[in-house]
Formats: sequence, C-alpha cells, structure tokens
Amino acid sequence: MNVVSERSDTWYKQAEQKAAQYFATLAGQVANKAYATTLTEDIKLWQKVHVQPHSLLSFLTRRNRKPEARHYSKYIRWLSDKGKLDDYLDRSVSYIYMRDLGKALHARDTKARIQRVVDDVKNHLMRNSGAKQGEQPSFMSMAGLYRWAQKEGIENAAIWVIGKIRIVTSNIPEGMNAEQAVRKLIKLIVGVVLHVMDDMDDSVLPEERAKRLDGAIRLGYSYGLTYPFIDDLLDSGVLNAEEKEQYSQMIRTTLMDGAVPDIAEIGEWNGNNRDLIQFVHEELRDAFDFIKRHQRPDTLQSFSEQSYVFFHSQHMDRVKELSNPSYTNEDLYLPVIIKSSSSRLIVRSVIGSDGDEGFDKRTFYYGIYNQLADDFADMFDDMSDGAVTAYTYYLKHRNQRPDLINPYELYWAVISFLIHDVYDSDAKSREVLLARAINGLKRCKQRVGLVKYNEIMDIFASGNPAFNRYIQRMVDKADNVDFYDKLLRDQMVSVLRNDRQEKEDFAETIETVREQINRQLQISKPIGIPSMKETLIDAANYSLTGDGKRLRPILTWVMGVNEYGLSPTGILPLLRSLEYMHTASLIFDDLPSQDNSSSRRGRPTLHQLHNSATAELTGLFLIQKGIEEQASLEAFDPKSVLAVIRYSSQKAADMSAGQAMDLHAKGKALTLEQLNTISYYKTGIAFEASLVMPAILAQAEEKEITSLKKYSYHAGIAFQIKDDLLDAEGDLLSLGKPAGLDVENNNSTFVTILGLEGARKAMWDHYCLAMELLREIPRNTAFLKQLLNYLVTRDK
Ligand code: IPE
Ligand code: IPE
Ligand code: MG
Ligand code: MG
Ligand code: MG
Repeated sequence: MNVVSERSDTWYKQAEQKAAQYFATLAGQVANKAYATTLTEDIKLWQKVHVQPHSLLSFLTRRNRKPEARHYSKYIRWLSDKGKLDDYLDRSVSYIYMRDLGKALHARDTKARIQRVVDDVKNHLMRNSGAKQGEQPSFMSMAGLYRWAQKEGIENAAIWVIGKIRIVTSNIPEGMNAEQAVRKLIKLIVGVVLHVMDDMDDSVLPEERAKRLDGAIRLGYSYGLTYPFIDDLLDSGVLNAEEKEQYSQMIRTTLMDGAVPDIAEIGEWNGNNRDLIQFVHEELRDAFDFIKRHQRPDTLQSFSEQSYVFFHSQHMDRVKELSNPSYTNEDLYLPVIIKSSSSRLIVRSVIGSDGDEGFDKRTFYYGIYNQLADDFADMFDDMSDGAVTAYTYYLKHRNQRPDLINPYELYWAVISFLIHDVYDSDAKSREVLLARAINGLKRCKQRVGLVKYNEIMDIFASGNPAFNRYIQRMVDKADNVDFYDKLLRDQMVSVLRNDRQEKEDFAETIETVREQINRQLQISKPIGIPSMKETLIDAANYSLTGDGKRLRPILTWVMGVNEYGLSPTGILPLLRSLEYMHTASLIFDDLPSQDNSSSRRGRPTLHQLHNSATAELTGLFLIQKGIEEQASLEAFDPKSVLAVIRYSSQKAADMSAGQAMDLHAKGKALTLEQLNTISYYKTGIAFEASLVMPAILAQAEEKEITSLKKYSYHAGIAFQIKDDLLDAEGDLLSLGKPAGLDVENNNSTFVTILGLEGARKAMWDHYCLAMELLREIPRNTAFLKQLLNYLVTRDK
C-alpha cells in the first residue's frame, strides 16, 4: 500500500471507530426499549398543541377544508387565512437550521436568526400570493432566479449557473431520473447559498455580500455536481460493472491526490458511455479545481478527508448484495452513519466557516436520523432495485436473522437520543422533530395507501404495540405537521417535470410545423412563363431553401391554430407571406451595401451566387409575393384581411427604417435606449407581426393585442441580443452565416457596445420582462414560455 492510500485508509478507520461507538449507544437503547418510554412522555406534551378534540365546530368548518398542498399559492393563502402561517414557517425554518445548518435551536442567537428568516419568507410569500400569481412559486423559475440575482448584484453568477444546470440537464443519461438529479443539484446549491447568507449579518457591505453570494453559487454547483454525477450515476444501471470500477477508481484517485486525473491517465474508456464520461470528467475537474481554489488551507485537509470518507462509505454501502445473508448490524449501519455525517461536514468545510462548539457532534449524530427517514420513504423503490438499506435488508432477512436490529425502532431511538442527549430536552427541538416524524408517516400512508401502510407497520412496529398505537393515533389525529421544505420539494419536482414535458412538446411542435411550412414555401413556375422570369423565381426559391428556422411562421401557426382556432389550411397564405418577407429582409441585409455577408442559411448569399441587382430584385419580388399571399386569405372576413394588409405594410416600412438606423449607427456609441429602439425596429417588429396578424384575423380584443405587442417587444430584443452574442461567440458551421461580421463591419450591437457580459445581462432582463408579461395574455402560454427559453439558449 502506498503512503497516500494508507493515509486515506486511516481516515476511514477513524470515522468507523467513531460511528461504532455511537451505534453501540443507540443499539443499547433499542434493546432495552428505553426510547419508547421517553418518547411517549414527549408525545404527551407534544400532542397538546397538535391534537384538537373533535367538536361540532370542527365539523361545521370542514367546508373550509385545507387545499391540497400541490396548489402552492392556494395552500399558502389558506395557511395565512387560518392564522397558521407563522407556526408553519417557524417549524420549517427551525428544522432547516437544525438539519442543514447543524444549529442547536435553544441558542439565543439561533432563535433570533430563525425569527428573521421567518419574517423574510413571510413577507415574500405575502407579497407574491395574489390570485394572479399562478400556482407556482415565482422564485422557482429562471426569471425568478434572475430577478433575485439582480437585486443582489450577482447577475453573472446567475447566468453562469443557469447555463450549467441546462447543460447538466441535457447530459443526464436516460437510465437516471433527470428531475430528481436536477432537483438534488439545485437543492445543494441553495443549501450552500443559505449557509453563506446565514453567515452574513447586516454589517456586510453590499459589494462584499455580492462577492460571497457569487462564490456560494459557484461553489454550490461545484459541490452539488458530485451528487448526480458520482453517487447517483454509480447507483444507477447506466454504467456496466467494468465501467463502474473504472469510474470509481477515477474518483478515488481524485480524492486521494486532490485533483481529477487526466482523461488519458484513466485509460481507454470502452463501452457505450464515452461521451457521458468525457462530459462528466470535464465538469468534475473544473468543479474540483474550483472547490480547491476556494478552500482555506486549514479546511482543505478536512475537505479531502471528509470527501474520501464520504465516497468510501457510499462505496461500502453500494457493493453490498441483498442476497448475502450474513451482514452484521455494523456492516449495515456504520457506512450509513458515516456517509450521512460526512456529507454534512463536507458542506461546512466547503464554505469554510466555523461551526460553534457543538457543531461537529450535532452534525455527526444527526446524520443517521436523516438517512433512516429517507430510506424508510424509499423502501419499496429500493427493494425493487435490489438496493441494500437497513430496511430492505430487514425485510428480506428478518425471519432468519433475529439478531438484526429493526431499523424503524432504531429510527425512533435516534429521535429520542437527539431530543434528549443532543438537544438537552429542548422543547422546540422536540416540537420540530416529532412533527417531522409524524409528517413522514402521514406522507408515507398517503403515498402507499392504507393496506400497504398497515403491512409495513405490522412488520416494523409490532414489537412495541402500545407505543405503536400511540404513534398511529398521532398519524391520524395530529395536525399542523406540514413543512415548507417538503412543499417546495414537491413543487420543484412538478415544476421540473412540467417544464420538461413542455419543452418536449415545444420541440415536437417546432419540428412538425417547420416541415409543413417547408413544404409550402417553394414558389411554383406556371408553364409557359418567360424563362427570364423563371430565373427570378429560381433565385427566390434558392433563398427560401436552406436551413432557416422558420420561427416567424411557426409562431403564427401555433398561435393562430392552437390558440385562436383558425383554420390550418386557411392561414397557409399568411405563413408564406411572413417567410417571404423575412427572407427578403435577409437578402437585403446581406448585400455589400449593408452587412456584406457571404453566406446565409448554410449557403452562399444570393448576391454571391448572382449579383447585387438580382438579389435586390429578388427581394422586391418576394415582398410583392408576400402581399399577394396576404390578399389571398380567402378563409377570413375581408375587413380583417384588409386590417392585416394595412398592419403588415406599416410594419414592413418600419423594418426598413430599422435597417437604416442600424446602418447609420455604425461606429457610434449608442445608449441602451437607442440599442433597444434599433433592434425593436429591425427585428422585434417581425416577431410582433407573427403574433399580431393571427390575432387580427381572429378578431381578438385590443387589450390582448396590446399584451402580445409588449411581449414580442421584449422577446424580439432578447432574440436580437442573442443574435449579436452568437455573432461574437458562434461559428460559421453551426450558424450557417459568418460569425464576427459585426466587428468586421464596425456595427454597433449590444455586444460591441455593452461587452459580452453586459449583453447577456440585457438579454436576461428582456427575457424576464417578456416572461412577466405572459401573465397578461389570456391564453395557454406554455409555447410562448418555451419559445423564450429557446430564444435565449439556442446556438443557431
Ligand atoms: C436572422 O433571423 C435575422 C435577425 C433578425 C437576427 P433568423 O435567425 O430567424 O434567420 P433564419 O430565418 O433562421 O435564417
Ligand atoms: C438583421 O439583423 C435584421 C434583419 C434581417 C431585418 P442582423 O444583421 O444582425 O442579422 P444577421 O445576423 O445578418 O442574420
Ligand atoms: Mg444587419
Ligand atoms: Mg446581417
Ligand atoms: Mg446579426
């Protein structure tokens, strides 16, 4: 054994010894059932405020029943109306302080901090719980996150982490649960941010605060990444046995040497997961580097130590097999104690702040409680995965192995130990821990159903009938045991799931509508026309072909057909006219007299292929064709059609003015306002038209049309900023048009004037404004929401 692995071996052995002592204490309590007597007394006190005697009043008020927690805003309003919100938040925040921050609730200073957080959260909830807010917490979206970041002055970190989460999301392999992985990652980031916020008081100046929060976000990501990409990945069936071994070896080397090994050193990666591993390797390397650079020298050692211990305990846990009949209680529980405590201690060393005196002890003792609660909830999933947890192992082997400790009894023993031995019988700790435990059982009962729940209880709780009856009474009768973090967790999963579904629908719609439109675009050549005219039609068709995104007619189709119920064949002329006019604008824009571009939509520009005169005439030809199409909208009321033509002509004229402003601005230092105006005129207007024209045909109300215009104003500018960013950062091959042209032409764009960072911020600001405007539009706005996401994240 070399020096390094000898050292890490010692780390683990030390952790094991500590865990073994703790475990022996707990096992003793289970054996003499001391915990049941103690807890019965505790619950007697606890139930006074949680169990109301049944009365006529409670029967009569049943009409005003608690809304289901999945209706987030409604639920919060209900709590507030019933006067329950303060207790609810206090319980929840206290629990977080105890669990995630390792605090003792009876400390004066902790009490004050908890109160402050409760007040802040309450203010936030009250401000955002209006009926129009929808059913989703406003901060659980990219726009919400960005708005918060603006307030704290940490936009760059927010933009960075949004990008990272997006990349991670799209790289989670099929065999893993993407929502859960992303939820965990976000939770860990939030955890680190909360830690850092909690460490700052009012004396920290805004600039310093922003710096620390920026660091916290990046650190949180770097650290959080290890969960989906180490633990979850190894737990899943994505890698085969050989790959798992190779992968584990890489992580082990990383933790022992303090750096992710070079990909070349890991050896040839066989198997199907090369790309995945390459991605993970790069991300982990950056993450690990980041963590290392941000550690204080004195915590670096403990970081490496805890990380190794954490990884190794997970490994010990993972390699167990459910069929093996001879694991001892220690084999089962020690890795659990070690892994959950070390994971908590890592966060501490990651953020490099000093816990108070009892912190280590509390954190260490807390771990097993949390793990036993988690594993209880996941028992059946784990069983069907064949995963070994204290519960699955007990389920399978309890009859042959009377010596096995019942994990459910151990769970209660730990709760008793925490209340009395760790938190000095403090009333608040008792209140919170018992509420949490009862809540856990309630949730379980609800999820698995009565039959299954009783089955579970028969197996795990029958050794202690009196105690169990008492607990079950609490499960049935006790009230006010809900927690905000659980609500957020459920919300987050549904938000993520919903978002993914919407994204898939969006991609599918775009794809199919684009194909349909592509089939409609070519201009036909009637037999017998002069061949010179044929040349112009060929030129127009040349420009219409190629990989244009067709965004404008797609928008019109989706809004027109799906939202306004217009006839899909009836609006075909409108779709054609939009793409004809847009293509014309591109032909002009590319001319030597304007942007002088050599390629467009992946092919030579029209003036390159022919000459400027042909290009100009083709542009004019396409515009006229567009008007002809509009005048052929025979499926609609003639007055509306006239309104469309009038509107469209005005907008086309405005667009020309926009292009003129753009060219005139070359080399000038524009203000933000001027930049916005130019890009609205040259680009935003076309987006507006795509939304407004079907609305006019559908005779939508003026108010709605105004909202659509406001939305497309911001969406259009965000689109143009992204276009400027792509010009600066993209490449010809993926763009289909040359990159770097703006600088070459001395154009004044968002990027040349504000710089990359400034442009990104402006883009996200318009993104948020457009998102916020969706609330005004009385339609299903899922498509418009996903469109915005697409506009700012596209790479073409
Ligand atoms: C490019 O528009 C011109 C701008 C308004 C920035 P698109 O990016 O929609 O171009 P195509 O239609 O996909 O080629
Ligand atoms: C052009 O903006 C807008 C119109 C075509 C009306 P850009 O000049 O930035 O568009 P690209 O980058 O050439 O597509
Ligand atoms: Mg231009
Ligand atoms: Mg251009
Ligand atoms: Mg451009």
